[in-house]
Amino acid sequence: MNRTLDQHAQTGSDGQSEDILVDVDHISTVFGQGASAFSVHENLDLKVRRGEIMTIVGGSGTGKTVLLRHILGLTKPSAGVVRINGIPAHALPAEGASARMGMLFQHGALFSAFNVLDNVAFALREQDSLPDAVVRDAAIVKLQMVGLKPEHALRMPSDLSGGMIKRVALARALIMDPPLLLLDEPTAGLDPRGSDEFCELLLEVHQELGLTVVMVTHDLDTLYALSTRVAVLAEKKVIVEGPPKEVITFKHPFIEQFFLGERGLRALEPAPVAKP
Ligand SMILES: Nc1ncnc2c1ncn2[C@@H]1O[C@H](COP(=O)(O)OP(=O)(O)OP(=O)(O)O)[C@@H](O)[C@H]1O
Ligand SMILES: [Mg+2]
Repeated sequence: MNRTLDQHAQTGSDGQSEDILVDVDHISTVFGQGASAFSVHENLDLKVRRGEIMTIVGGSGTGKTVLLRHILGLTKPSAGVVRINGIPAHALPAEGASARMGMLFQHGALFSAFNVLDNVAFALREQDSLPDAVVRDAAIVKLQMVGLKPEHALRMPSDLSGGMIKRVALARALIMDPPLLLLDEPTAGLDPRGSDEFCELLLEVHQELGLTVVMVTHDLDTLYALSTRVAVLAEKKVIVEGPPKEVITFKHPFIEQFFLGERGLRALEPAPVAKP
């Protein structure tokens, strides 16, 4: 049983939460076969409410990226089911996937052979139903939304800074206006200032677009800047979930080491988001 520290979940008359967008319903994930089989998730349960920023933390190799891939519908758990808006994620058609959710991948690669505009426009262009000028305009609007200028549109990924690459990847994830955004280590590789600026941008788009966000991060500043709630993955399941300040009071060796080590206590200090 995992423990939920947040007592404010809305429950309907049938006892089910009414505002759940992502329902990870008691999943197990096993890789390999026979003697080499190993399990990553066992009876893992997690509900993400519409409009919140849910942050998943856990040690390296605990299955955070695998969980995001299940939510995306790219992979299917060995048991249990992930539902998006009540529909099994693996059963959703691949077509139109980018209109349902955007994803910022952990190693956030852009298509290196495409310029910025073509990267951002990719999913829209795949629809093959809009005139090129409309696709270009939509991509430029998204570039502006993430703080880039139209003149950046023709640059190649190799000519961009780390922060700009993250912004282009975010614009690409948002091109189809999906209601759900998945972020795998969104600030990894950025310096503290770049990281603060990207957090500020994520907060802006979250509010402006009314997004639901599921984020994986190991960065405590990012976690505290963005999270509505935090879910801690350990022992192959979510051991505790709730608002950050409550989760850190849960007694578990990973939580003590992650949140209450020297690094964790430093991140608890109020740190204003950097202004340009
Ligand atoms: N397709 C696959 N086949 C076999 N094993 C896999 C596959 N995908 C992931 N794994 C294994 O599942 C485990 C969890 O991987 P995952 O990438 O989800 O970890 P993570 O929590 O995201 O780690 P990190 O914090 O380092 O990114 C790892 O042991 C990984 O090697
Ligand atoms: Mg990962």
